Amino acid sequence: MSDLTARFRALWDEIAPVGRDAGSGGYLRYALTGPELRLREWFRGQADGRGMPVTEDGNGNLFAWWGDPDAGAAVLTGSHFDSVPHGGAYDGPLGIVSAFLAVDELRAAGVAPARPVAVAAFVEEEGARFGVPCLGSRLLTGQIAVDRAAGLRDAAGVSFAEALGDRPAGADPALLGRFAAFVELHVEQGRALAGQAAPVAVASAIWPHGRWRFEVRGEGNHAGTTRMGDRRDPMLTYAFTVLAANKEARLRDAHATVGRVAVEPNATNAIPSTVTGWLDARAAEPQTLRALVEAVQAKAAERARRDGTDLTVTEESATPLVAFDGGLATRLAALLDAPVLPTGAGHDAGVLAAHLPTAMLFVRNPTGVSHSPAESATDDDCAAGVAALARVIGELTCG
Ligand code: GLV
Ligand code: MN
Ligand code: MN
Ligand code: MN
Repeated sequence: MSDLTARFRALWDEIAPVGRDAGSGGYLRYALTGPELRLREWFRGQADGRGMPVTEDGNGNLFAWWGDPDAGAAVLTGSHFDSVPHGGAYDGPLGIVSAFLAVDELRAAGVAPARPVAVAAFVEEEGARFGVPCLGSRLLTGQIAVDRAAGLRDAAGVSFAEALGDRPAGADPALLGRFAAFVELHVEQGRALAGQAAPVAVASAIWPHGRWRFEVRGEGNHAGTTRMGDRRDPMLTYAFTVLAANKEARLRDAHATVGRVAVEPNATNAIPSTVTGWLDARAAEPQTLRALVEAVQAKAAERARRDGTDLTVTEESATPLVAFDGGLATRLAALLDAPVLPTGAGHDAGVLAAHLPTAMLFVRNPTGVSHSPAESATDDDCAAGVAALARVIGELTCG
């Protein structure tokens, strides 16, 4: 085991148990709840141990600073701690742990960066608690209104402002102006690198994507006594909509998923009164995504008419196509001798890319699985990711 691999493992072991569900082996690290708050404390401890002052932006995002704050705009790196329900270990935290280790690498190599380095932990990247992904970076960049963000509520009715302890501060152009570039390291979330020679890739683009809530209202009634012809069953509309989404996505080489559903009253022996399904749709091109969502809505509406149900569709979030800074991606790919690839997964880097030169590094994932306990990365590949990130930061701070 290389020295760097051993250092990665030692630091990784500090956070590995936090928020892990003993049953599934996955993680329940929802933004601003116990496990994520413990990781934020761990972040402060790591920063403290390295003599890096920590600042907060009033939106729930944390920044740890290395180097002279007056020496120009900083190179920002980092990611998020929060997870999806029963998510993998690496999605998010790998980018933060790697950032601290990359700082250690640069220091050990005697690099005195010509500009500062900042390590970020962004809040609510997954949107698993409050429904809007990349909430922290959207607030910082002004891509979501403060009122809307403050009022988002979790399943227990707690608002984001209550969880944060204050109304979010919103856009902070002065803070953004303190960053020269952002580099987010992340576990790869598909199979592009699995079985390939390269442990690290550079991102070219993020597919446009979004979330749409399909709420279908019918008539709750008795499962045993209501004649089949007398029913207004929203479950039928919902089920048809899921199949239509799958079909329409396949037709377009796009991705459509309904991974969350809520049923009222959710009883085996009652026809539901309401079924709500959340559609996650993504495509390589914005026009393909638009056509996909319109087709699913049209088919769902037609089916609702047949079922005698009422359908309401609400867009909960939409993220445009992100083309990362092409010059930067090419430069980093040459520096690292790494392949360049697009992804269908959303990231804070996608939000920040509209404001700063931004790049992403992906670390090979042998299972190709993510948003699941089966997400994986070897310690050696994670160490290769740290080494790559250190080179990139070294290049961007000095070059
Ligand atoms: C976030 O990880 C997303 O792509 O949904
Ligand atoms: Mn994720
Ligand atoms: Mn992530
Ligand atoms: Mn993500």
